[in-house]
Amino acid sequence: MIENTDFAEINLELPPPEEESARQYYFIEKCRRWVKKESEELGRPLMACTVTFGCQMNSRDSEKLLGILKQIGYEETDDEHADFVLYNTCTVRENANKRVYGRLGYLNTLKKKNPHMMIALCGCMMQEAEVVEKIRKSYRFVDIVFGTHNIFKLAELLYRRFEERRMVVDVWKGAERIVEDLPVERKYPFKSGVNIMFGCNNFCSYCIVPYVRGRERSRRPEDIIGEIRRLVADGVVEVMLLGQNVNSYGKNLDEPVTFAQLLEQVSQIPGLERIRFMTSHPRDLSDDLIRVMASSPKICRHLHLPVQSGSSRILKEMNRHYTKEQYLELVDKIRKAIPDISLTTDIIVGFPGETEEDFLETMDVVEKVRYDSAFTFIYSKRTGTPAAGMENQVPEDVVKDRFDRLLRRVQEISAEVCGRDVHTVQEVLAEEPDSHLEGYLTGRMDNNTIVHFPGDISLIGKIADVYLEESRGFYYMGRLARTN
Ligand code: SAH
Ligand code: SF4
Ligand code: F3S
Repeated sequence: MIENTDFAEINLELPPPEEESARQYYFIEKCRRWVKKESEELGRPLMACTVTFGCQMNSRDSEKLLGILKQIGYEETDDEHADFVLYNTCTVRENANKRVYGRLGYLNTLKKKNPHMMIALCGCMMQEAEVVEKIRKSYRFVDIVFGTHNIFKLAELLYRRFEERRMVVDVWKGAERIVEDLPVERKYPFKSGVNIMFGCNNFCSYCIVPYVRGRERSRRPEDIIGEIRRLVADGVVEVMLLGQNVNSYGKNLDEPVTFAQLLEQVSQIPGLERIRFMTSHPRDLSDDLIRVMASSPKICRHLHLPVQSGSSRILKEMNRHYTKEQYLELVDKIRKAIPDISLTTDIIVGFPGETEEDFLETMDVVEKVRYDSAFTFIYSKRTGTPAAGMENQVPEDVVKDRFDRLLRRVQEISAEVCGRDVHTVQEVLAEEPDSHLEGYLTGRMDNNTIVHFPGDISLIGKIADVYLEESRGFYYMGRLARTN
């Protein structure tokens, strides 16, 4: 955010400035006065609750939205009995949409009891015209609707809602620019997501993301490095660089930069201890990236490399631009360069036209790669994507049977693979108090595996050497060897 923004300097008698982010700071100040007045009348602080669905991009967006709400004067709560409730939605699969509609009914009952309550909806689902129509018609109690391209405008939209006293809808088809320097409220003091790019140009035939997140746009390296430096100065030791396909980072910049070059720059930032990134498309993962990963101790030994299917025929239909053989060769190359790397993946079962033979190819990839973990999804038809128009959709019972077989095998392998470091000492970033065991902490190894170990909460945010006593399938039980 702009450091030391002096709100007293903002002249609210003047019309709002045209340029960003000054315009939003003007509206933040306008809303702040409104919230202060309301809170004085009620004799209590106004509370805001943000609920996030979907991926890390959405989580990071929610931190930005909460940052704005806190500047406005709302206090944060996890409880939906709040004065401002914001749902940041996901639409990657149909289930995600159903959950939002279900919970909206519940919010309506809360709103009837609290006339001060405001409900806002944003995120990927709101980029779909049918969804917005349905909200306008059947969910009249919603106050603000906005999309993925204008989250920076929350204060302005809220102010409009205060003034107009009716539903405000502002959804943009695309993004003209990237607005930098707005407030952010991080969930963890010691780790943070950092957007390096927005949108996606891949158009995998099943996927709705390019339609709801727009065309690929990369942030300038100097803005990214500047943000990470400020985060480190504020206590962050681990960053997760975020993009739908980080391997195509930088292609559309005035002065093109590759993702490998960006990683090299980021790894030189003093005080930063761990660097993660999500997601890598197998299609354009470069040798340079493998070289940089192998040579920088700060870059975590973990690669999420979604395969989606093991059948080259289905991969072609999915528009993924690689074959089963190319994927397996890539995995070999990565493992040769970085033997201790942990590999994870995403797999879709039941893509239109998938036969038993195609599915067995997927099972074969799982056997050969032996992933640390795999997210498995049942194909979900998304309106407007090319796959939704394909005729030979696979019957539900067949998909379910394949899904169960895949999941069982993925879990068996994962339990075998994840325990490989047992009885060694590993660096673990202590993240939070263990939710089940009193006096224990939960942390993560460099390769993303979870470790539970006895320790004091003063260790949270620090990297400790932990002896891994016992493997329990997906996680370890350990004890402190010593603190770094
Ligand atoms: N950009 C990332 C993925 C983002 S979506 C990538 O390309 O790897 C996360 C995962 O959701 C995808 O990897 C895919 O496995 C799954 N997914 C996307 N669309 C889907 C659909 N229509 N049905 C089922 N799963 C889907
Ligand atoms: Fe979707 Fe493919 Fe883009 Fe990932 S790369 S977000 S799966 S279109
Ligand atoms: Fe969902 Fe949007 Fe992420 S559709 S998976 S929240 S980019």
